[in-house]
Amino acid sequence: METPSDARLADEESRPAAAAQHPPDHHRSVLLDEVLEALQPHGGIGFTAVDCTTNGGGHTAALLERSSPDGRVLGLDADTSALALARVRLAPFDGRFVLAQCNFRDLPRAAAEHGFGGGVHAVIADLGLSSVQLDLSGRGFSFQGDEPLDMRFDEAAGTATAADLLNTLDEAELAALFREYGEEPRARRLASVVIRRRERAPFARTGDLVAAAMQALGPRRGRTHPATRVFQALRVKVNDELGALDAMLDAALAALHPGGRLAVITFHSLEDRLVKWRFRGWAQPEEGVPTARILTRKPIVPSDAEVRHNPRARSAKLRVVERLAPHVEVPA
Ligand SMILES: C[S@@+](CC[C@H](N)C(=O)[O-])C[C@H]1O[C@@H](n2cnc3c(N)ncnc32)[C@H](O)[C@@H]1O
Repeated sequence: METPSDARLADEESRPAAAAQHPPDHHRSVLLDEVLEALQPHGGIGFTAVDCTTNGGGHTAALLERSSPDGRVLGLDADTSALALARVRLAPFDGRFVLAQCNFRDLPRAAAEHGFGGGVHAVIADLGLSSVQLDLSGRGFSFQGDEPLDMRFDEAAGTATAADLLNTLDEAELAALFREYGEEPRARRLASVVIRRRERAPFARTGDLVAAAMQALGPRRGRTHPATRVFQALRVKVNDELGALDAMLDAALAALHPGGRLAVITFHSLEDRLVKWRFRGWAQPEEGVPTARILTRKPIVPSDAEVRHNPRARSAKLRVVERLAPHVEVPA
């Protein structure tokens, strides 16, 4: 069975080594060459793309560089502070990119608003969170350190924080959350510990949650820290990550020109399953004609060299589809 662990969380163990190789204020883009190979940006054709998860602008910068001198990219991200970093990094491409703070489920509106509404050549989504958000955002994504239990990508959204959920959901709801979004086998035990601990003091900081996970699940066994799954579960729920992905996939396909390509990088099995089945549904619909062709029969995964260089890439999976022109028959 695939494990649900998000590499960007599970690989916290490897942080000291990784940090030594790479300053913590910088995110290494995952599967960069493979994304460029899949999306084929080039200059002279008025190439256009949407990066749904711009963050510090790694994939965006590469798309702009490869599509010089006339390619344009619309970069979206829910996190305002991530876009501030991207703005600095992308300054050399001034005039060829637009950055917009929004949830990627609003891609159609953002594309129309910023002049990318008539069909684009490529869409990329590199899901989850960046090393910078994990290490430096102070929003409680990491189970190392001790930070407020927030976990929202968009702090201005006015939605519930991780602490709000831990302090208000009932025991059955907590168990369902840990099971559904963290695939935590001991979800009920963990929920019962959360309820007992919050009767003494409400959950406020990541340390409170780590202590609950250790109490319920015992010390670390093997590579995975006991808090890995519960941190993933809360982050996925707080940001409605699967709902947003579900909405974005259809919007992304619709945003492409025929022949345009969509690349999605996932980091855990919940995301990957959703992407895999949606792609299959487009390529082999139960009714009607196919709307996309799958270009990756099996997901592309990082090379050993990339994982050595960037351990947080290790559970990445890249899947790519190409939009078909209406009514094109796919050869068997
Ligand atoms: C892994 S990082 C992207 C890194 C980027 N591709 C690079 O190479 O620098 C993922 C980003 O997606 C953003 N994100 C996650 N879910 C989102 C959503 N539903 N809408 C918009 N942005 C989202 C996060 O805030 C984060 O900045």
